[in-house]
Amino acid sequence: KNSPGVNLSCLATLNQAYEALNQTAHHATTFQRPGLMATSILNGEDCHGPSSHVKYSPIDSSLKLGTCGTADVEIVETALSNAHNAYEDIRSSKLSTRCNLLSVFAEALHQHREELSHLAALETGKCIFDSLNEIREAIDFCYYYGQSAANVLVTHPLPHTAGEQNKLGFRGKGVVLCISPWNFPIAIFIGQIIAALVSGNAVIAKPASNAVFLAHRIIKILQGAGLPDHWVQLVLAPGNTIFDTVIPSPQISGVAFTGSFDVAREINIALATRRDSLVPLIAETGGLNAMMVDSSALPEQVIQDTLHSAFNCAGQRCSALRILLVPQQQLKLYETTLIRAMDTLRVDSPLLTETDIGPVIDRDAFTSIQRYIRHEMSTYNVHQVELQKHSPNGHYIAPTLMMCPDLKEIHKEVFGPVLHLVPYDESKPEPTIATLNKKGFSLTFGIHSRIKSRIRSVIEQINAGNIYVNRNIVGAVVGSQPFGGFGKSGTGTKAGGPHYLLHFVNEIAESVNI
Ligand code: SER
Repeated sequence: KNSPGVNLSCLATLNQAYEALNQTAHHATTFQRPGLMATSILNGEDCHGPSSHVKYSPIDSSLKLGTCGTADVEIVETALSNAHNAYEDIRSSKLSTRCNLLSVFAEALHQHREELSHLAALETGKCIFDSLNEIREAIDFCYYYGQSAANVLVTHPLPHTAGEQNKLGFRGKGVVLCISPWNFPIAIFIGQIIAALVSGNAVIAKPASNAVFLAHRIIKILQGAGLPDHWVQLVLAPGNTIFDTVIPSPQISGVAFTGSFDVAREINIALATRRDSLVPLIAETGGLNAMMVDSSALPEQVIQDTLHSAFNCAGQRCSALRILLVPQQQLKLYETTLIRAMDTLRVDSPLLTETDIGPVIDRDAFTSIQRYIRHEMSTYNVHQVELQKHSPNGHYIAPTLMMCPDLKEIHKEVFGPVLHLVPYDESKPEPTIATLNKKGFSLTFGIHSRIKSRIRSVIEQINAGNIYVNRNIVGAVVGSQPFGGFGKSGTGTKAGGPHYLLHFVNEIAESVNI
């Protein structure tokens, strides 16, 4: 079963959706929203902590969203002990009870989709339709993991000799620490938590500091829908408190992380120094994703898929396209057409339904992306889309195209709306593929070609967890396109795939002679 979503092919529904969205957008931009408060939630109770700070929206740096209470070591230690106690209860709960709970969560998220999509737009700058899509993904995770648990985590009878019974069963690992990112503050936040829960684990959830209001609200919604208060402890603590207190704790039996490669590596190192246990890490990190186009491809389709893959969500998707490889002899064609198409993109408030691209997440992201663009401008020809005039206080970055003659010069994943256009020799794609593989990331990859043998040959050579042919390379669909990479892009685990839950359990083989 999938999220029902909103049927945008029906004109009446579409108009209704536009009206509802525009009304709330108007509301949100005309009034300040001082009322939001995010705190840690321990056993269902809000826990403010000794310090707090005011948070502002990326849409407009003077738009105050509310206040976030920061968890200190004492709160974090209470969360650890609560989660440890909760595990005993979850361990004895029925698999069917946990599976059914996920369907109830799906319904609750659907009921709250407008509220959550607006909060996502305000807090993270994600465009309203992208936020709605993200809620659909979260709902899909609920249905999919519920179904998957019922199919995969059941006890399997095994071959046996006379008088003996052999079987293989599954048990949650204990307490799983879920560290989620700000770029998918709904789907990944929920996906990690429910995967851990349905597999029989207690959860400590540590959301990104730029997505705390959403995290707080989502936990309240799930608890309202029947999530037992003690099963998830929401901890709004700084990263260093998590590193010093949670990761080394013997009460943590697994970590699910989505974020940068560097942080995943630090977590891995910290886990490796634990003396009490070998604790597994599930990590989904970044990508230096490319799309390879040959001269048999349809340029109109390439342009459309490129714009969506590179600039949707302001390029703040780990799956986003960073490098478009086109045949040397078509470089000029693609440069001209891409620039023309990019100039139709509207960069503006994510609350407006006509906006294509919203702001980047915060001042630090803004500064570092701008620094990269300015630095590269001294080397390459660069085209930038003109920004709308009425968004001067937001962290808006103009979609940028960089004409880069040599793939070897691109090393860095720039997490924003920046695309490199690079020529390659289509008569000899192998060295280009080898150069891409050497970069060490292996997340998404696209091919645009009508030649079946070429498509097959590229698929066999490229290192990428998700390969897309003749389409865009973002927005993996739960259950149909299990998502995740390897190498510097992750631990090879596939969110929304049939084996994902197996990473959250221990397998127990029983051989019984009675
Ligand atoms: N799963 C998302 C995508 O496919 C990225 O996290 O775009």
